[in-house]
Amino acid sequence: MLSILLWLLFFEGSHSLKLVELNVPEGVARGAPVWMYCGYNLEGDELYSVKWYKNNVEFYRFLPSDKPPGQKYDLLGVHINLQKSNKTHVYLQKTELQSGGSYGCEVSTEAPSYHTVKAEKVLKIYDIPEEKPVIEGAKQAYQIGDEVNVTCFSLSSKPIASLQWIINGKTATSNYLTYYPEEYTVDGLGSTALGLTFIVNYGHFQYDMMTLGCKATVTQNYSTFSEEIVIGENVEAETLRSPDVLVHTGGPKISGENNRYGVGDILELNCTSVPLKKPQRLAWYINGVQADPVHVVHYLPYQNSNGDIQSTAGLRFQIRQTHFHTEGLRLSCSATISKVIGERLTEIVIGGFQHSPSLQVSVGSEDSSRCSSVTPWITMYLLILMFFV
Ligand SMILES: *[C@@H]1O[C@H](CO)[C@@H](O)[C@H](O)[C@H]1NC(C)=O
Ligand SMILES: *[C@@H]1O[C@H](CO)[C@@H](O)[C@H](O)[C@H]1NC(C)=O
Ligand SMILES: *[C@@H]1O[C@H](CO)[C@@H](O)[C@H](O)[C@H]1NC(C)=O
Ligand SMILES: *[C@@H]1O[C@H](CO)[C@@H](O)[C@H](O)[C@H]1NC(C)=O
Repeated sequence: MLSILLWLLFFEGSHSLKLVELNVPEGVARGAPVWMYCGYNLEGDELYSVKWYKNNVEFYRFLPSDKPPGQKYDLLGVHINLQKSNKTHVYLQKTELQSGGSYGCEVSTEAPSYHTVKAEKVLKIYDIPEEKPVIEGAKQAYQIGDEVNVTCFSLSSKPIASLQWIINGKTATSNYLTYYPEEYTVDGLGSTALGLTFIVNYGHFQYDMMTLGCKATVTQNYSTFSEEIVIGENVEAETLRSPDVLVHTGGPKISGENNRYGVGDILELNCTSVPLKKPQRLAWYINGVQADPVHVVHYLPYQNSNGDIQSTAGLRFQIRQTHFHTEGLRLSCSATISKVIGERLTEIVIGGFQHSPSLQVSVGSEDSSRCSSVTPWITMYLLILMFFV
C-alpha cells in the first residue's frame, strides 16, 4: 500500500496533462444522434492532438496545426458530423446497430512534455419495436378439462426480450412453460418464444373470466469495470491506475490488505461497488476470464443512510505458477446493473364461463342437439389489450 501511496503523491505533485471527463452515453435507441465529450486539463502545456477511437480504430482526430484541424476516417457505424465536432466534442448525427462499441479519446500534448492520456467507455445501441408480443394457438372457447396450448412470440429486439406468461394477473408456474431457443439475425436482433400448456380447471376462471397475458421485457445490462490490478512475477502488486486519468467511471474499487504476493500465497481482495440506488452484480476476472464461483465470496450488501446500496464481493484463492502469464497475474472486477428499457404486454380475455343446468339436459342427447345446446352457454369474447410502459 505504501508504494502505491507514494506513487500517487508523486503524481499529485506534478503538473501535467489530465483527462478529467469522458462523457459517452451508456445506451441510445437505434437512429438517435450522440454527443460525446472528452474533457482534459492541459495544465499549461500546448495541445498536440485529440484522437477518437471506436474499438481501438481511429475515426476522428483534431490537430490544431492541421488545415482544417478536424479530420475524419470512415468507420462502419460511425456517422460523425465534422461541422459540429471540435477539440472536446464529437457529434455522431445518427446511429445504427453497428455504432455500438467502446469509444475512446486520447489527448496528447506538444513538445517538450509529450504526454498522452486515454480513456474509453462503452456505448450500447438498443432497438425495441413498438409492437406487442404475439399470442398464437388460443382457441375460441375452453371448457373445464380442455387443454390450453398457446405460444407467445417476441418481436425482434436488441437486446433480446424475455417473455413471461401471466394467468389472471399471476405469473405462470414453470411446469406450465415450454422454452424455445433464442434466434438472432446478423444484426444481433434477437427473438424468442414461450409456450404455455395447462388443463383448464374451475380455479382458472375468475368471475367467469380467464385472462392470459404475455409480457415481453427488454433489459439492458450496464457494466462498469474496476482498474486492473497486475501482480508481477516479482511478486509485487502494482497497479495500472494512471494518475493522469481522473475520469470518474463509477466503476467498482479493488481493495486488500497485502500488496505483496507470491506463488503459494492466498490472495484475498475485495471488490466494492460505488453506492447506487439499485444493487449491482459483481464479477471477478482472473487474466480476463470470469473467476470460478468457488473463489468468490459474496458479502451482504451495505445500505447507507441515503438508502444507497453498496455491494462487495471477495476473491480468495491460492496463487499458482500457472496464474502468471507474460504480463503477470491480471485481476479486475465488474459491477453490472440491469435496467428495464422496454415492456410490452399482450392480453387475451376469455370470458363467459357459466355453470349451466343445460349441461345435464344435453347429456345423452343426439350429437347435433348437444352441439346447439352447448354453444349458447359458452360465450366467448376475445379482447386484445395493449399496454405500453
Ligand atoms: C465544441 O462544441 C461544443 C458543442 O457544440 C461547444 O459547446 C463547445 O463550446 C465547442 N468548443 C470549442 C472550443 O469550440
Ligand atoms: C402445443 O402446441 C405446439 C405447437 O403447436 C406443439 O408442438 C405441441 O406438441 C403442443 N403441446 C401439447 C402438449 O399438445
Ligand atoms: C443481463 O444479465 C443477466 C444476468 O447475468 C443475464 O441473465 C441476461 O441475459 C443479461 N441480459 C442481457 C441483455 O445481456
Ligand atoms: C472484505 O469485506 C468484508 C466485508 O466488508 C470484510 O469482512 C473483509 O475483511 C474484507 N476482506 C478484505 C481482504 O479486505
